[in-house]
Amino acid sequence: MAIAKNIKDSMENSSFIRKMFELGAQLKKQHGEQNVCDFTLGNPDLEPPAKFQETLKDIVSEKIPLKHGYMANAGFPETRRSVAAYVSKEQGVPTAEKSIIMTCGAGGGLNVVLKTILNPGDTIVVNVPYFVEYNFYIRNHGGEMVLAATRDDFDLDIDAIEKAIDKRTAGVLINSPNNPTGKVYPEQTIRDLGRMLQRKSAETGRAIYLISDEPYRKIVYDGLVVPPLFANYANSIVVNSYSKDLSIPGERLGYIAVHPAAGDFDNLVDGMILCNRILGFVNAPALMQRVVAKIQGVSVDAELYRRRRDLLCSNLARLGYDFTPPGGTFYLFPRAPGGNDVEFVKVLQEKLVLVVPGTGFGAPGYFRIVFCVSEETIKRSFAGFEYAIKKLKS
Ligand SMILES: Cc1ncc(COP(=O)(O)O)c(C=O)c1O
Repeated sequence: MAIAKNIKDSMENSSFIRKMFELGAQLKKQHGEQNVCDFTLGNPDLEPPAKFQETLKDIVSEKIPLKHGYMANAGFPETRRSVAAYVSKEQGVPTAEKSIIMTCGAGGGLNVVLKTILNPGDTIVVNVPYFVEYNFYIRNHGGEMVLAATRDDFDLDIDAIEKAIDKRTAGVLINSPNNPTGKVYPEQTIRDLGRMLQRKSAETGRAIYLISDEPYRKIVYDGLVVPPLFANYANSIVVNSYSKDLSIPGERLGYIAVHPAAGDFDNLVDGMILCNRILGFVNAPALMQRVVAKIQGVSVDAELYRRRRDLLCSNLARLGYDFTPPGGTFYLFPRAPGGNDVEFVKVLQEKLVLVVPGTGFGAPGYFRIVFCVSEETIKRSFAGFEYAIKKLKS
């Protein structure tokens, strides 16, 4: 066999999202792009903010020595300082340059964190439903994913997480605002989680890291604020990205922020810097680091996504769909009418409306709609959603 068995297995079980992407491409070719309502991929369609475009133009035309050169593996000092100042405000804990490592997106950042903390056979607790790549990322570094159920409204179930923890647990990975549910965990939940992890770390004799994957932190609605992690647990690591809030996922920029009071802080950060290099990322993209150093806090207008959320939610509710409205992100995760998500998705495809079955996120019985598509596409899809619920509920 030419390729590794585990990769062959992974390819065979490859994510539903990829499969839907391929099916979408095929249907668009067959029926014309404008006739397919594709709600499968989280590829933001909004233009990056004007401030991003202006700053990028300025930097491109400026004369800077080694503008496109290598830099220290953790990133440019001025970028790390600028991110640290922003994180200090956001997390409610003074955070210095040393805590920040610039990465190739959140995906790169998570791989760096996991490579740094995992010994073979260690586990990471993940909450269901979860971002499909987590299992691959954890296995990349010899770890094992252990699942914890969430509550009916997709809030974390602290008891379920506690039950999933044992001596092998290196960390708990949370994602808020959540892909695929749009749930924003309330401050009380984060506080309770921090207290429980403190107690379990003492019990197991091992510091359990709380890793928070937060690429949607700025895409929230109705005045919601994503509560800080640092203010609630010292052994915490935030992984963030500019993919969604600046609408630049192809540019691959994110960062890791390590709590300044995390145990073994120097080794943890130095280990991550080494891993950023030896995973082959070497460093995060230079040009993008130069841009974000000057525009911390800038984001796309979440109001545009809010309008789409409301359009979708009001119409799906009218048609009889059952869901918890998302507090953030551009995802909606309703129950599949009839209960079988894979069958529901196939029925919807008959009307050229594409969504991803919840099974792909570890949650059969649900399906995910991505609303980074135009309001016209959303409006065109309602006839298909009406057809599918009528067919499966009759
Ligand atoms: C929850 C979550 N984590 C991480 C990522 C990876 O993002 P990035 O483009 O920053 O690597 C995504 C992308 O969709 C995501 O939804």
